Amino acid sequence: MRTHYCGLVCKDDLDQKVNLCGWVHRRRDHGGVIFIDLRDREGLVQIVADPENVATFQAAESVRNEFVLRVTGKVRRRPPGTINTNLVSGEIEVLAESVEILNPALTPPFLIDDNDISETLRLTHRYIDLRRPYMQNNLRLRYKVAMALRTFLDQHGFIDIETPTLTRSTPEGARDYLVPSRVHAGHFFALPQSPQLFKQLLMISGFDRYYQITKCFRDEDLRADRQPEFTQVDIETSFMDSNEITAMMEEMICAVFKSALNVDLPTPFPRMPYADAMNTYGSDKPDLRVPLVLTELTDVMREVEFKVFREAALSPGGRVAALKIPNGAALTRKDIDEYTQFVAIYGAKGLAYIKVNDLQKGVEGLQSPILKFLAPRVVTQILNRTQAQNGDLIFFGADKSKIVNEALGALRVKIGHDRGLAEKTWKPLWVIDFPMFEWNEDAKRWEALHHPFTSPRDGHEDFLENDPGKVVAKAYDMVLNGWEIGGGSIRIHRADIQSKVFAALNIAPEEAQNKFGFLLEALQYGAPPHGGIAFGLDRVVTLMAGAESIRDVIAFPKTQRAQCLLAQAPNTVDDKQLSELHIRLR
Ligand code: AMO
Ligand code: AMP
Repeated sequence: MRTHYCGLVCKDDLDQKVNLCGWVHRRRDHGGVIFIDLRDREGLVQIVADPENVATFQAAESVRNEFVLRVTGKVRRRPPGTINTNLVSGEIEVLAESVEILNPALTPPFLIDDNDISETLRLTHRYIDLRRPYMQNNLRLRYKVAMALRTFLDQHGFIDIETPTLTRSTPEGARDYLVPSRVHAGHFFALPQSPQLFKQLLMISGFDRYYQITKCFRDEDLRADRQPEFTQVDIETSFMDSNEITAMMEEMICAVFKSALNVDLPTPFPRMPYADAMNTYGSDKPDLRVPLVLTELTDVMREVEFKVFREAALSPGGRVAALKIPNGAALTRKDIDEYTQFVAIYGAKGLAYIKVNDLQKGVEGLQSPILKFLAPRVVTQILNRTQAQNGDLIFFGADKSKIVNEALGALRVKIGHDRGLAEKTWKPLWVIDFPMFEWNEDAKRWEALHHPFTSPRDGHEDFLENDPGKVVAKAYDMVLNGWEIGGGSIRIHRADIQSKVFAALNIAPEEAQNKFGFLLEALQYGAPPHGGIAFGLDRVVTLMAGAESIRDVIAFPKTQRAQCLLAQAPNTVDDKQLSELHIRLR
């Protein structure tokens, strides 16, 4: 049926007879001659239908966009001046001997080379959207990345083992997707938020090195980097410490970038303690391409007249910090208002600033709505700490640390990109030394920052009972250009410590037994020291593809509202199905 891919026919094939199959990308009528750009997954080739061949010409005349054709013809050189250097097939064309319509097509809802289509339309007709070279490239890149990962892991002795999809809840911090059981009335499976517990059990079973590229399910608020159903490259190993694991995983990510993109990532990846990341970048996933940093000012603001700063500086867990924007004095009132609205998304109640016009003139050379509330001594400290120069602007955040960090952290990245300050490069790093727990003020209890199976740092076991906030975890995240692409840890392999962690999380022994009894038991039957990591495959590929959203590297993603527009899922089911499942709707 076919001898060549359309997009691969080239001048090596001159004078050959070829059989091509593909879709009509465009048809152009040039008074007497018809040109068809025929497209397949490899690209385009130009077909020429000459009126002398009547049957072929008539067929060519009748085709429309996206018809599926089989064309037989001879490869010939394009006339000088009509060569297209952007195409592999750009120096040749195929003079059609026959044009066979394999299937006509309705007028497509959008053109394949239109790059300005609403996402709703794209997702509703995803099979057409996926014809676009952009999506074809993204999904092929995804395949390359998965292959490179498998090759690396295979070479390093990891074996792929499948774990169940119908299982019970694994606490990774999101809501579960539940599946009702027909056989057991009133009982539910949960879809896995990750294979965490099963991969630990596989270590206890002695498999030593496991991996799986697998779907995980989390019912959480969706963003550009989150899907309810996403893919993890899930990895676990026994008898390796965190330095060994992170070194090997760094090597793996470098190998993947090399083989899929021919990029050499800068090694070794810097290792940044969580506390430094928060203090300096206001984020546990700092985008190191942006050269801006936060400056600590809490200690300076304890006695100032400006109430907003003083109260934040004095309150426990409060923070006052500055973000200096070099040459930012050029920002207009309107720019500043927009940034003030931007930080409000993160709960910031305002965005005080100082414009540094002329340091020589002292306070006279500064411009700011809050200057009147700050003693000259304080102003000097601000200028010194931020090392402000003429023409700079200093933004301030004052509130609970969480709000200040989120607001200034996000502002740092936004302004960095808005003002073209971000380096165009790859900036990977490891964030390490995470706290084990985070205080949830609303629920008034400690929560696991990663998951409750993470091992505390050696010697920190005692804090579990008395001072959970002090416990540092043996956890590590891999961050690339401001995205958390992977996270993992050394696990607890002793049942007594696991029980203490559950206790610190306020999980009663009965509840722990009920939910994780199988793990607590397994830990007592010879659990080796073990640890691992999981990478978000969708995120890694999104970054590599230079895409904005992970939806662009998933064949059939969900919308921001967690729906599949193509298959119209989720949907209602009939009463019979519900009653079999022992479910009555409210
Ligand atoms: P974690 O919850 O950090 O760790 O998940 C690992 C990685 O998966 C990606 N990811 C997501 N990608 C897309 N959409 C989502 N909703 C989503 N949620 C997470 C991120 C993240 O870094 N069991 C542990 C791993 C371990 O400890 O080995 C876990 O699941 O890139
Ligand atoms: P106000 O006294 O409320 O008019 O605020 C004076 C300046 O402080 C304005 O520029 C506000 O944007 C700013 N501001 C108010 N609250 C905060 C805050 N929590 N953090 C940073 N700046 C603030």
